[in-house]
Amino acid sequence: MPKVQVTSEGTLFQYEATEGSNFLLEAISESIPIPFKCTKGNCAKCYVKITCGSDHLSEPTEREYHHLGDEGLAEGNRLACQCFVYGDVEAVIEPR
Ligand code: FES
Repeated sequence: MPKVQVTSEGTLFQYEATEGSNFLLEAISESIPIPFKCTKGNCAKCYVKITCGSDHLSEPTEREYHHLGDEGLAEGNRLACQCFVYGDVEAVIEPR
């Protein structure tokens, strides 16, 4: 099972994800404090920075290109609600 690590304000959260699961929904079920509102790619509140394993996530969606742009995606930013996890991933929730 994929290992997911998320750092938020200096606290490291770790869990084993179900392969193919939605990054945001599974993180919420693990009590990880990712801000979110819509869960549908509309609000852009759920952005995270992927620091390792970006190739273990699903391809960016049209909604992610819209909100983050090519530059934001190239910097590792993703909308957690638009990502599906297929391997080990490390991410940081940056201060809002
Ligand atoms: S929760 Fe709204 S874009 Fe992800």
